[in-house]
Amino acid sequence: MFLKNAWYVAAWSSEVDRDLQQILVLGEKICMYRSSDNEVVALEDACPHRKLPLSKGRIKNDGIECGYHGLTFNGQGNCIWAPGDGNIPPKAKVHAYPVHEKYDLIWIWMGNPELADTSTIIDIPNFNNPEWGVNQGKAMELNCNYLLMCDNLLDPTHVAWVHQSSFAQSATKSAALNVTQTDEGYIVHRWMMDAEPAPFYKKIVEFEGNCDRLQHYEVRYPAHALIRAVFTPAGTGGVDGTLDEKTFVMDSYNFMTPTTETQTRYYWFQLRNIRPDDQALSKMMSEDVQHAFEEDRVILNAVQQGLTEKKTATIDLSIDSGQLRFRRQLSKKIEAERELENSQEAH
Ligand code: FES
Ligand SMILES: [Fe+2]
Repeated sequence: MFLKNAWYVAAWSSEVDRDLQQILVLGEKICMYRSSDNEVVALEDACPHRKLPLSKGRIKNDGIECGYHGLTFNGQGNCIWAPGDGNIPPKAKVHAYPVHEKYDLIWIWMGNPELADTSTIIDIPNFNNPEWGVNQGKAMELNCNYLLMCDNLLDPTHVAWVHQSSFAQSATKSAALNVTQTDEGYIVHRWMMDAEPAPFYKKIVEFEGNCDRLQHYEVRYPAHALIRAVFTPAGTGGVDGTLDEKTFVMDSYNFMTPTTETQTRYYWFQLRNIRPDDQALSKMMSEDVQHAFEEDRVILNAVQQGLTEKKTATIDLSIDSGQLRFRRQLSKKIEAERELENSQEAH
């Protein structure tokens, strides 16, 4: 069960071209391509005649010609040509998904097209800021339900055990967590004071000695995360800290797209407030992050398997509070959406 009236990431912009391709979002098969004026088109990937996927057909005048009997659809999903007597059956239509390109990503709206509002796509303030550098990697395939990744991204503690060679430092094991609810989701956060920076950050920050460190783990509905890391010289951090001109900030954006109930496509990139044009730094950060996310992937795939095969009940810990509250609110939203859909169908 998924939240449908929401924007999900369908692909990196660079992944979609003039070739027809099938992508999977929330278990729905979608045919995606670019028209000659470079607009992305996303259509239900099933011809209404005999359900051959339209992605098995060919592009014709910016529409798609079915590869079996030639029914032809325009980019809005309307049939514009039919074989035989030439009459176009009124039901010869496929669903056209609203899409929008932003942040080098293709966003797709999986619910009622009338509710699709591009202004509700997540705001990323420093995306085009020339003073901020960016690094990114390919989308990753996770063999787990997307909520396991949401749990992971509301869990600052796991770095102590999963990312020992990169994001962990001694305080990540035990410092207390704070949970804040927002209109858009939850934040689990904590400051850790006067400690040696974790190995990944030690290579990057532009000051020597101990640091104060913020872990800000935020997940917004349906499954978008902002993980903000702040490293500042010891004595300048904390809730009332003054910070410092050498303060390092990294905003890690993470977008989980459920492909099925047990598979997830995971898109990510990071923005940093230092050395924006340093390509070697971007490359190193991308490689290190990719390596760390592989560590998450191994754990989450095995957790999915463990949960699927479980013979005894799971337990919850105090560290799970943010995750559990996020899941509860998301379930309520999904439930409300279904009730509304059912009541509309009933009328
Ligand atoms: S299956 Fe598409 S036209 Fe027949
Ligand atoms: Fe992780």
